[in-house]
Amino acid sequence: MSDDTDNMELRREMVGICRRMNASGINQGTAGNLSVRSGSGFLITPSSLPYETMQPEDLVEMDFDGTYVGRRPSSEWRFHRDILKNRPDVNVVLHCHSIYATTLAVHHKTIPSFHYMTGVAGGTTIRCSKYATFGTQALSDHALEALQDRLACLLGQHGQISLGKTLESALWLAIEVETISRMYVQALTLGEPPILPDDEMERVIAQMKRMSYGHAPDPEGVNDVAKPRAPKH
Ligand code: 13P
Repeated sequence: MSDDTDNMELRREMVGICRRMNASGINQGTAGNLSVRSGSGFLITPSSLPYETMQPEDLVEMDFDGTYVGRRPSSEWRFHRDILKNRPDVNVVLHCHSIYATTLAVHHKTIPSFHYMTGVAGGTTIRCSKYATFGTQALSDHALEALQDRLACLLGQHGQISLGKTLESALWLAIEVETISRMYVQALTLGEPPILPDDEMERVIAQMKRMSYGHAPDPEGVNDVAKPRAPKH
């Protein structure tokens, strides 16, 4: 396949993921943005364009020096650029203002290991970053700090960021972060819930890694407990 065909295919996939962000309820209006590593830079959603009307050609090509080709890039291009630059382990950055994650973020609450699924972001907590004005370098700096050794964070008084190797895994994680946030908000109505100890969370995270837990089928990520076999009939 030529580079142009690859690029168009990636643009179509991005539009599909953006529409699924809205359909899943984690995003609405012109909130949210998405970027994917591509060529020597990355593709990013344009600023203030509703996903229902966005077309593959509307996606913006950016370089790591902040120059771009096409429409005006997302106002949050700095944190997309900085995360992709500093985190070679991921290729996709997804940001949204999902309701329950943002409910916790407006209270600057870090999500503790009240439920083992907190481990899907790669650590014992899902941190909440300090607040800074949207679109600023300060917000990008705070986001990078909160994402250290993690694949997701809450953004203080703003929303959430989820990262992935693929578009699918970033969307999956953003929906998980929203679900965990919803559980935590619900649990808090009965008081602060007990926290799983760090050594248990270490076992959980190791188990998740071993089993590619929760991710779409991955031939590399074998479940080491059960063995596949041919059907009997
Ligand atoms: P953009 O439309 O510029 O991407 O802004 C949306 C947003 O969520 C800002 O944080």
